[in-house]
Amino acid sequence: MTDPINVPLLDLKPQYKALKTEIDAAVQAVVDSQYFILGPTVSEFEAKCQQYCEAEHVIGCGSGSDALLLALMALVPGLPKVEGQVICPSYTFFATGGAISRVGLTPVYCDIDPVTYNMCPEHAATLAEQCDNLVAIMPVHLYGQAADMDAFLELGERYGVPVIEDAAQALGTRDAHGHMVGTRGTVGTWSFFPSKNLGGFGDGGMCSTDDPDIAGRLRIDRVHGMEPKYYHQHVGVNSRLDALQAAVLSVKLDHLESWHEARQRNAAFYDQAFAAAGAVDSRTPLADGGYPLRTPYALPAPARHIYNQYVIRVPADMRDDLRTHLGEMKIGTEIYYPVPLHMQECFADLGYSPEDLPESFLASRETIALPIYPDLTTEQLEHVAGTIVAWIGDRVAINA
Ligand SMILES: Cc1ncc(COP(=O)(O)O)c(C=O)c1O
Repeated sequence: MTDPINVPLLDLKPQYKALKTEIDAAVQAVVDSQYFILGPTVSEFEAKCQQYCEAEHVIGCGSGSDALLLALMALVPGLPKVEGQVICPSYTFFATGGAISRVGLTPVYCDIDPVTYNMCPEHAATLAEQCDNLVAIMPVHLYGQAADMDAFLELGERYGVPVIEDAAQALGTRDAHGHMVGTRGTVGTWSFFPSKNLGGFGDGGMCSTDDPDIAGRLRIDRVHGMEPKYYHQHVGVNSRLDALQAAVLSVKLDHLESWHEARQRNAAFYDQAFAAAGAVDSRTPLADGGYPLRTPYALPAPARHIYNQYVIRVPADMRDDLRTHLGEMKIGTEIYYPVPLHMQECFADLGYSPEDLPESFLASRETIALPIYPDLTTEQLEHVAGTIVAWIGDRVAINA
């Protein structure tokens, strides 16, 4: 047997190779300028991103985690001397809940809609009723698909609290009405971590808002709350986007739409290959039986899923064996996320048990992310889909 072809979960080398001349020149220009923190390159990138995001103001910062911190600091008066709660999903990257705790607030973990994996509006409404001092709502646009913004904006309005959109995985995602995510809440936050759809050569992040006062506050808070120089209105943080990151991101932003198209093509390839084997999408629970794989459900246009991740669902008792087999076949995968936040050790004092959020718990045991990056070749896609279909075929035959 010949060696299987290698399909890493993510390989950024082809992207760099294609853009090397442009990126190297942009980096060299920053080096020549010796202007490394904020400055004209960052302002130019912010202006470009502001157009792309369809937001009034964007503010670059040190990371997506910092963007969440900055948003909370700008929107919750009286921090850190306030006791209050923020509703956010449990099934997300740690930074979402971590930012809430870091500013001394209490995360109130919400379950997910099992179809989209995004925060469940009905559960959020129930939790909001139980909070004694709700100060914000923080939905996440997970995997690159929009959360139900109509529902969360209505909830925010009902309780008079801001909605912070964690759009770290969703630059370019459109919601059910075709709006760019991150633009309808009070503040949107993004990450430019290298593995994101728009990734830098290190850490980077951004906030967006349509409110000029909040934009001003965010700009000041990213430089220690300083305005003018050496005068501090409040205690901010040191979280500045550096010019080298902005230069790289600026080059990459011009290609982002074509990368989204490639991600969507790759997702359609998998969808079709799995459907041909008998799979349906996540609107049908695995418990209903049939072929034991669910493809991701994408909201219909004008919504747009940008597939930062392509995540399938298989029965919990198959998931880890499938992952091991894919590893042996040189196919990279990841589990986003094996431990939902309500089950993390650092939040044990909040007193949750796994079953409190049954859909988050189940998703953490059933989901597995496949390679989806734009540069995948047809041969690689065929290898991934073919390996999974063959492995499941053997399993189904054994159990029949
Ligand atoms: C949903 C979510 N929120 C926040 C972050 C934090 O972003 P960063 O890694 O840039 O701090 C990430 C990044 O992985 C994320 O996926």
